[in-house]
Amino acid sequence: MVKFHVKEASGALREIEVPTDMNLNLMEVLKASEYEIEAACGGMALCATCHIEVLEGIGKLNPRTDAELDMLDTLPVVLSNSRLACQIKVTEDLNDVVLRLNNS
Ligand code: FES
Repeated sequence: MVKFHVKEASGALREIEVPTDMNLNLMEVLKASEYEIEAACGGMALCATCHIEVLEGIGKLNPRTDAELDMLDTLPVVLSNSRLACQIKVTEDLNDVVLRLNNS
């Protein structure tokens, strides 16, 4: 299991605990946790609707791929800590990461 936190619009931190052995990506976990993410492309790095900001721990995550960077470049605002949640694998690396959804 791995635990990470989502900073909600209210400023509250919500802890989410998820198994690491189910080959999930972060977008899938956030959707299952009832966050509103359209995920129109189904996790193919083709829609950018799963845009998040990683507030703490970005250096621990798998690096952005060229496909992810290309899609992020299509957004009007991209920050140095912007990621596509569908491109982040749920592994032990997510432990203690803090993120927020781009729309929150
Ligand atoms: S779900 Fe489409 S880019 Fe992540």
